[in-house]
Amino acid sequence: MSYDFNPHFAKLFENETPKELYTPITYALSTGGKRLRPQLALTACNMFGGKLEDAMPVISAIEVFHNFTLLHDDIMDNADVRRNRPTVHKQFDESAAILSGDAMMIEAYRQLEAMPHDLWTELFPLFTSTALDICRGQQMDKNFETASSVSLNEYIEMIRLKTAVLLACALKLGAIAARADKRDADLLYEVGINIGLAFQIQDDYLDLYGDPLTFGKAIGGDVACQKKTFLYILTQELADTRAIEMLNLYYAKTDIILTDRLSLIRELYNNNNIPQRYEQYLAEYLRKAEESLAAVNTTDEAKKPLRDLIAKLANRKK
Ligand code: IPE
Ligand code: IPE
Ligand code: MG
Ligand code: MG
Ligand code: MG
Repeated sequence: MSYDFNPHFAKLFENETPKELYTPITYALSTGGKRLRPQLALTACNMFGGKLEDAMPVISAIEVFHNFTLLHDDIMDNADVRRNRPTVHKQFDESAAILSGDAMMIEAYRQLEAMPHDLWTELFPLFTSTALDICRGQQMDKNFETASSVSLNEYIEMIRLKTAVLLACALKLGAIAARADKRDADLLYEVGINIGLAFQIQDDYLDLYGDPLTFGKAIGGDVACQKKTFLYILTQELADTRAIEMLNLYYAKTDIILTDRLSLIRELYNNNNIPQRYEQYLAEYLRKAEESLAAVNTTDEAKKPLRDLIAKLANRKK
């Protein structure tokens, strides 16, 4: 059973003023989302005997931070829909998404201040380096939009930074909150990196193959921005020159309507077995996550909730 964090996030900032600053924040935090990072932090904390209360500040910090990144990411990616609702810059305006996003980033740090002081020297440097990694990853993602070629290694480094480190940080913060041994906390970080790589290649896959209502985001947003997605990179690595040329043509042909380009791109990927190759990579990252989890120094019973969560992620549709 997963814990329902929604009531907590809906009321976290409900009494803050001015309302123009905080209404977009509550809008972002109360429109659902999978709460994957809170779930990871709680699961890690429980694994080492910690309670929900022990992890609550890190849970709040990480989810508020995650939602902050989405406010700015949706401006950067020109995205109109998230969680089946208008994105913050569409529902309010860009100024709101920028400034409310800034406030969320700072509020995330404030949440961490509620942790016991003796843990601060561990928590804050981890949180800060994670935050900077995400900026680095986001910039690489933007740079790749206009890069003529991006290697698989460059792509993996980009998604490690923009996505995986935050999932890894969630697990490690949960472990620290439960005062786990450093070795185990570091192993959980590795688990999180591999879950995170799997999670981002799934996100890229669902951007093209997902059901818009279940996924909650517009399909083909990545193609519209000429993102070098995992499927695009795999094609570059595996397909013949002709297929790569066609893909680049479909990516660049902005005079053809997007839905037609998406059909052409899906057909090209299918003909080149790209979805099958993607499935293999996905399984491999999840296997690596389980491998690191196996090395953690605790009982199988204590590891089971995280193992179950990894198994559930393998089939995610949203
Ligand atoms: C979206 O994260 C950004 C990515 C890293 C792909 P989630 O898919 O976890 O978003 P929510 O919070 O569940 O909406
Ligand atoms: C998410 O990348 C990474 C961050 C928000 C830091 P995406 O741009 O692929 O995420 P979605 O698809 O908009 O949720
Ligand atoms: Mg993005
Ligand atoms: Mg985006
Ligand atoms: Mg995406």
